[in-house]
Amino acid sequence: MSEPLDFQKYLETKRGQVNQWLSDFIEQRFDNRRRLCRAMAYSLMAGGKRLRPLLCMASAQAVGQPEDSDVLAFGCALEMIHTYTLIHDDLPAMDDDSLRRGQATCHVAFDEATAILAGDALLTLAFEVMAELACRHPAGAKAVLQVSKAAGYQGIIEGQMRDIEAEGQSLGLDSLKQMHQFKTGALIEAAVVSGALLGGATPTLIDALSEYARNIGLAFQVTDDILNVEGDPDLMGKAAGTDLKLEKSTYPGFLGLEASRSFARELINNALQALAVFDTKAKPLSALAYYIIERKR
Ligand code: IPE
Ligand code: IPE
Ligand code: MG
Ligand code: MG
Repeated sequence: MSEPLDFQKYLETKRGQVNQWLSDFIEQRFDNRRRLCRAMAYSLMAGGKRLRPLLCMASAQAVGQPEDSDVLAFGCALEMIHTYTLIHDDLPAMDDDSLRRGQATCHVAFDEATAILAGDALLTLAFEVMAELACRHPAGAKAVLQVSKAAGYQGIIEGQMRDIEAEGQSLGLDSLKQMHQFKTGALIEAAVVSGALLGGATPTLIDALSEYARNIGLAFQVTDDILNVEGDPDLMGKAAGTDLKLEKSTYPGFLGLEASRSFARELINNALQALAVFDTKAKPLSALAYYIIERKR
């Protein structure tokens, strides 16, 4: 029998590693006298859940690579991409939000032009970090390829386009699911798959992990939509009720809250089934799956 996982402690430790890596990086590479660097650091260090790096690390652990500095660095690059998407998502031309991660959004704290540029710079920097690593890691190039696809016009950006196009429209369930998979699921899947690739996983294990990731990725966005209806803005560090105001297409809007919650639970069960081929090394991945639907922020 293996020890049960102390998930709170696990979260704290892994988040601590991510935050430390990012703050060391900022200290070494950013020039605080430059407005651009200040805006990038402002949003990056605002204290998100760090879910994508956590998933990347947990996935590497599941395939037998528990403490790998390359995986940590790669995960932090994913956090840079994710942070850029949040900065741009909050812009007046997008969701027009003024609170994010418990503080003023980047365009409010700085200005719109600076926020656009800080987002651009974080995205580009992420690829610099991943490319540096890919120059020496045997699976690095494949991992970067995976992330490039997820971040681009066949992934997040297409998802964001559809999200904006769908404002005021009522999307069918299939289109809603597709939109969610693009805007949120793709990067989550890339986080899990890249961690597995860097950890030296076989194609069979990667397929199982992709299946896990597609399910948690969708569950993550469904939960984000649920929290937008009933969550506590103080805990979330961002406003609630905004999807309704902007007439966004969401799962609660389509199915109602109760059916959305059951759908998220069903997705998590599917994700856990996909982990059946793994041994106890996949415990953090299972715990993260529950966390995704139980979280309050
Ligand atoms: C929020 O992402 C935006 C979506 C993709 C739904 P997170 O909930 O992961 O945000 P942080 O990183 O914790 O701030
Ligand atoms: C954000 O989706 C998705 C990306 C940033 C790619 P939402 O607009 O639904 O997320 P929140 O609620 O603002 O965090
Ligand atoms: Mg949005
Ligand atoms: Mg938004």
